[in-house]
Amino acid sequence: QVALLDIDICGPSIPKMMGLEGEQVHQSGSGWSPVYVEENLGVMSVGFLLSSPDDAVIWRGPKKNGLIKQFLRDVDWGEIDYLIVDTPPGTSDEHLSIVQYLSAAHIDGAVIITTPQEVSLQDVRKEINFCHKVKVPIIGVVENMSGFICPKCKNESQIFPPTTGGAEKMCQNLNISLLGKVPLDPQIGKSCDKGQSFLSEVPESPATSSYRSIIQRIQEYCDLQHFQEEKTI
Ligand SMILES: Nc1ncnc2c1ncn2[C@@H]1O[C@H](COP(=O)(O)OP(=O)(O)OP(=O)(O)O)[C@@H](O)[C@H]1O
Ligand SMILES: [Mg+2]
Ligand SMILES: [Zn+2]
Repeated sequence: QVALLDIDICGPSIPKMMGLEGEQVHQSGSGWSPVYVEENLGVMSVGFLLSSPDDAVIWRGPKKNGLIKQFLRDVDWGEIDYLIVDTPPGTSDEHLSIVQYLSAAHIDGAVIITTPQEVSLQDVRKEINFCHKVKVPIIGVVENMSGFICPKCKNESQIFPPTTGGAEKMCQNLNISLLGKVPLDPQIGKSCDKGQSFLSEVPESPATSSYRSIIQRIQEYCDLQHFQEEKTI
């Protein structure tokens, strides 16, 4: 049972990517009910509260924090095994409030996404430092858009060259796990635009096997953490 919470208040992409554009949140006796993609996958996003997908949300920190609090307190998620929170880029109000509101519940950890080039790694190092500062463990880093295999000639090229060694080198230097690398694949963009699952649309692609192995490593990390928590209780 999985809950997906989109706290990218100003740029919510989850409704479109999940094929839920135009859906609205329903109010029930027990609070807001999430929008379900499948029986075991519920989603909540500010996108469901807007009257048009092009509406701009122009809010300062306190208002964003208020909505994030509502998403956690007033949404009837039911019994869930995983709560996945998609954050905007950066280390701002959204990140601070989610960490604060979930501190008692205990966050298993953060999955950090980068691309191979130094400009992106520079931002990601800040995200890593943020996690250290607020004591959120880091499950690992994913290198996205890591290489491109030309569909015509099958040659691999580096669209974003890892000029400083990419995520691999950064992870070694900072002693963090590299969860995997996902290649650039135009089909990913297409699936997102159509709101369909890339994993089921293109099950045989290298990107799909990469996603699957990343998911497995995250699950193993969480299982191990819960096992250790039970032991200490
Ligand atoms: N490996 C990939 N190959 C091809 N397209 C990709 C890949 N990864 C992401 N994309 C596409 O890039 C776009 C942005 O992806 P996504 O929204 O996941 O990025 P983001 O970092 O969360 O962006 P934002 O900063 O806006 O939150 C989407 O259209 C997505 O389909
Ligand atoms: Mg995003
Ligand atoms: Zn080619």
